Amino acid sequence: MRISEATIRKITENADIVAIIGEHIKLEKKGSDYKGICPFHNDTNPSLSVSPSKKVFKCFSCGASGNAVGFVQRYKNISFPQAVKYVGEKMGIAVDIDENVDQSSQKYLRIMEDATSYYEFYLKNSKEGKEALTYLNNRYLDYDIIRRFKIGLASDEFDLLYKALTERDDPYLPLNLLEVGLIKTGKENSYYDTFRSRIMFPIDDFNGNIIGFSGRIYNNIRKDEPKYVNSNENVIFKKSNILYNYSRAIHVIKQKDHVFIFEGFMDVIAAYRANVENAIATMGTALTSQQIQAIKKVTNNIILCFDGDTPGIEATKRAIDLFNRANFNIKVMLLPEGLDPDEYANQFGTQSLHDFLENKALSAPEYLYELEKRSLNVNDPYSIEAFKRNIFTFLKSFNINSLTEFYLKKMADELSIASTSMKDDFQKSDQYQPTTVLSAPKEVKAKPVAAKRRYLANEKYAIYHAYTSKDACTLLLSEKTNFAYINIDNRNILFKIFDYYKTNETMSDDFIHCLNEEEKAIIMKILHDTNYSNVIPLDDCLQINIEFRNEKLQEKLREAFKNNEIDDKAAIDFIESKRITTKIVKSEE
Ligand code: UTP
Ligand code: MN
Repeated sequence: MRISEATIRKITENADIVAIIGEHIKLEKKGSDYKGICPFHNDTNPSLSVSPSKKVFKCFSCGASGNAVGFVQRYKNISFPQAVKYVGEKMGIAVDIDENVDQSSQKYLRIMEDATSYYEFYLKNSKEGKEALTYLNNRYLDYDIIRRFKIGLASDEFDLLYKALTERDDPYLPLNLLEVGLIKTGKENSYYDTFRSRIMFPIDDFNGNIIGFSGRIYNNIRKDEPKYVNSNENVIFKKSNILYNYSRAIHVIKQKDHVFIFEGFMDVIAAYRANVENAIATMGTALTSQQIQAIKKVTNNIILCFDGDTPGIEATKRAIDLFNRANFNIKVMLLPEGLDPDEYANQFGTQSLHDFLENKALSAPEYLYELEKRSLNVNDPYSIEAFKRNIFTFLKSFNINSLTEFYLKKMADELSIASTSMKDDFQKSDQYQPTTVLSAPKEVKAKPVAAKRRYLANEKYAIYHAYTSKDACTLLLSEKTNFAYINIDNRNILFKIFDYYKTNETMSDDFIHCLNEEEKAIIMKILHDTNYSNVIPLDDCLQINIEFRNEKLQEKLREAFKNNEIDDKAAIDFIESKRITTKIVKSEE
């Protein structure tokens, strides 16, 4: 159905342009006009001018101009009728546009909007809400974020939402609430709410319509249930057709011409906290062609930022393959092992997350190369062969001569193998080129990293943990004797960190003054090396250190026996350390 000319005129001529634009960007009154930062280019000074009398906006820098409807259309990347409808509704004028969205979808979307408002209201106006707000604030989600992402709360009561939506002047039918997955049927024709005692995150479609929810547990009431419950697939909620934050982020993505793709929506919110707004997330599922098409519409440059754990890495490899086929320029973030972006922000601060996202993206080949290097043991010929094959395989999938040449040379240098022989091997490796290259099974399994290298790396992890957390430091300190055998420089640094935390609650810059130049260099390298992103958990770190100590002690004992001089001290140490090992293993059971 077309909107009549009269309606369009009524809306554009009477819209409060300052209020409409002011809803999205900050405006300041300057004389009779208003000024703000233009959202349509990379603006630093307020170049956007809004005239309430002429009812137009104009950017003196990029030239963007128009009326309230034009602004909304451009800002939200929606059609002209959709923008007319949006502005109309702000003025209390109902506009029936009817394109794509049929009458029944409209009805479902209204239900979802009302449910969202209800959850938002409940978060702010209930006793349960107080506890939920505390949880949110502890996760650094403040009022601005709660408003922006329309975060709400589902009560623990059986059917509060059901009642709210069916017992009102304009009641919804239980059938429709069932269809959109907000309620379920109980015994004897009763209904109950699907989401209970959960913090509610609305999920919207590519056009910004709320089509479902993800509800997170936040207290002990549902602690044995899944962390998140999502709307089921239904008439409007189609997981394959969703990218969290897409509609909100669209204009920033276009302006910056690149987009960050995360695994979870909490990561999108973390990015927002870190002032990175061109961020979207899949709903923890494999990427679909609809999602890829939607991204293609706004930019050709993607930055994958999945979790640093094994599933995250596997998902990254598959995504690289998919985006590669769709001719995107791909960059990848290699997060420290075991951290997601939200945890990264909480651990190192939002400014660090910002800098990390903006500066540390790797090209896809760099990422794959660094990843394979994590499992390379240069002392083991089998591991070297496995490494070479895996690199050959991805080079063949990219199939770019200069790239191939670059990495063959890099690999030859790093492995101290002649370039010519590396090229030879690469040429010969054709016979085992699999079809879908990036997900090819590894033909030769890399052996575990040799003990010595592993221990050396472990010392650095220990330093890293001790440096970044007082708790970790205290724990390491309680196992102090186990660090008697480590590399002397590393040991000195570790003990200096121990000492520092004796008088300080948190680590700060002045710690550096306690170190000599060499130690400074070591710790800088540990903390700033981007390759140093595979930090292992503290528990493993302790365990590995105990293994190392046992090995050293055993060595000593063997020596002593060989020379016929039984060393009591070493024997006692050894028995003692075994006891510690057993204790740790026991407590894990
Ligand atoms: P994650 O487990 O990485 O969640 O799952 P997260 O983003 O770190 O969340 P917090 O920080 O623990 O709150 C990533 C995505 O997988 C889906 C969700 O969409 C989530 O955003 N997921 C996860 C579920 O659907 N159900 C679950 O139980 C867990
Ligand atoms: Mn998380």
